[in-house]
Amino acid sequence: MLPNVWILTIVSVLASVSHPCDASVRITNYTDDYDPKYLDVDLRVRRLDQTTAIDFDLDLKQVLDKNVEYDVRLCKRIAGKYHQMMYTGRQQLCGKELRRSRNLLDRYIASELVKHSNLTTRCPIATGHYEVRNFEIDDRHLMMSVVPSGEFLIEVGVYHRGKEIKMNRWYVTAT
Ligand SMILES: *[C@@H]1O[C@H](CO)[C@@H](O)[C@H](O)[C@H]1NC(C)=O
Ligand SMILES: *[C@@H]1O[C@H](CO)[C@@H](O)[C@H](O)[C@H]1NC(C)=O
Repeated sequence: MLPNVWILTIVSVLASVSHPCDASVRITNYTDDYDPKYLDVDLRVRRLDQTTAIDFDLDLKQVLDKNVEYDVRLCKRIAGKYHQMMYTGRQQLCGKELRRSRNLLDRYIASELVKHSNLTTRCPIATGHYEVRNFEIDDRHLMMSVVPSGEFLIEVGVYHRGKEIKMNRWYVTAT
């Protein structure tokens, strides 16, 4: 479940606004900070022809239970500064079943991610090593028609009992 959130971010947060066709979306940069007491992450993003492929290794050192929350913040760059456009508030990470979500994108991501990894979608998430390989986000299907042009920053935080244990920042340019 944890990594679903990162990918969900890129896709579903941006899916809330509209944009003309014939566009492209690129991850120009990202940062990946985490508390090594909880987890180690090795995240790799590869740009392929029409898709973005994500690989990652996750070593989970503490069980993730219902006290783990995440949030997503979408900011747009205007005159050199990032301004918040959307914030989800903190949500329980394991309390929800993505595969039964009413949101089509949540369901798509949950089922695709399970195909490309040995991650579980059930809570609690046990300690151990997890791998995701070749999880692809296809511009044509998922993003091109729905993303407004501009430069965006998407921040995804993960918290245990209120303490930040992970923070991802994705810099995205849509044209
Ligand atoms: C990407 O992010 C890193 C870390 O914040 C930064 O040092 C680097 O300059 C950035 N690269 C680009 C191309 O923006
Ligand atoms: C997940 O798959 C990797 C690679 O096959 C394996 O090393 C690891 O033990 C698996 N983790 C779990 C929790 O099953």
